[in-house]
Amino acid sequence: MRSVLILAATGLVVVAMTKPIMGQDAKIERGKYLVEEVARCQECHTPKTETGEFDKTQWMKGATLVGVPATPVKGWHQKSPDITSTSALWTRWQVEGFSKFLQTAKNPRGGAAGPPMPAYMMKAEDADAIAAYLKSLP
Ligand code: HEC
Repeated sequence: MRSVLILAATGLVVVAMTKPIMGQDAKIERGKYLVEEVARCQECHTPKTETGEFDKTQWMKGATLVGVPATPVKGWHQKSPDITSTSALWTRWQVEGFSKFLQTAKNPRGGAAGPPMPAYMMKAEDADAIAAYLKSLP
């Protein structure tokens, strides 16, 4: 019985020690994937070139949205802001506030963003990864 307990305890220690800890690079990489392939923030936050491709030199720098809603939407924004490292949001909100915004759809002052910005209610892990990726962008 005792040896079984010792074995089980040893097993737990091994599991605890081998649990992967996500490094900063892995976090940024995951944030990039979530931004580009899941949430597709670029659809609204990156302008397009004349040939219709995303302008890679203006990646996530904010854009004028194409198209207007068929029926008027109250508070509709025709422009999206810069969400890269050069955005004032990082000083105003800090990384934590930015991440919380993606988790609660509320900025640090309790307000919501206007349409068509989606009201994301992400998991903390995903929001943190997205914040880390965006803040890594020049
Ligand atoms: C459908 C278009 C659309 C998509 C997709 C989108 N955004 Fe936005 N976003 C906007 C618009 C428009 C605004 C401006 C709204 C405003 O100023 O109230 C905005 C504003 C923001 C703001 C500033 C909010 C504020 O209150 O100042 C942040 C931060 C942001 N977006 C991050 C993101 C991130 C991160 C993603 C992807 C996970 C994303 N957005 C996807 C359109 C979009």
